[in-house]
Amino acid sequence: MLTNCHAFFLWWIEFPFPTVPPTLPPPRTKTKTVSEGRNVTFRCGQKIIHKKGKVYWYKDKELLEYSYPGYLSLNEDHMSIIANAINEGTYTCIVKKKERILTTYSWRIRLRH
Ligand SMILES: *[C@@H]1O[C@H](CO)[C@@H](O)[C@H](O)[C@H]1NC(C)=O
Repeated sequence: MLTNCHAFFLWWIEFPFPTVPPTLPPPRTKTKTVSEGRNVTFRCGQKIIHKKGKVYWYKDKELLEYSYPGYLSLNEDHMSIIANAINEGTYTCIVKKKERILTTYSWRIRLRH
């Protein structure tokens, strides 16, 4: 029998971050309000990149894997977006070494109306 407790545990294994409800921003979140069309750059893990961690980028908990020219540009230790109504949301970087999380930061992007 799968109890609520099991379900939570399984969910936690799959998404070990953040452990707060999605309506609250994850810890260490900066909110940035930007104008539409702005190129917003996030930098992450530059101080610990020599520890050979790997940087993963997420948008609202979805792993970002590809760049979309003119919209989103992914790089190892930084990424950028051209702000628009569709890509508003929370961007998270996670620096991992094997399964260990070295650091994580989030940015909440809101459009200035
Ligand atoms: C934002 O600007 C940087 C530096 O000019 C550029 O490398 C990057 O591709 C731009 N981002 C997007 C999503 O076009």
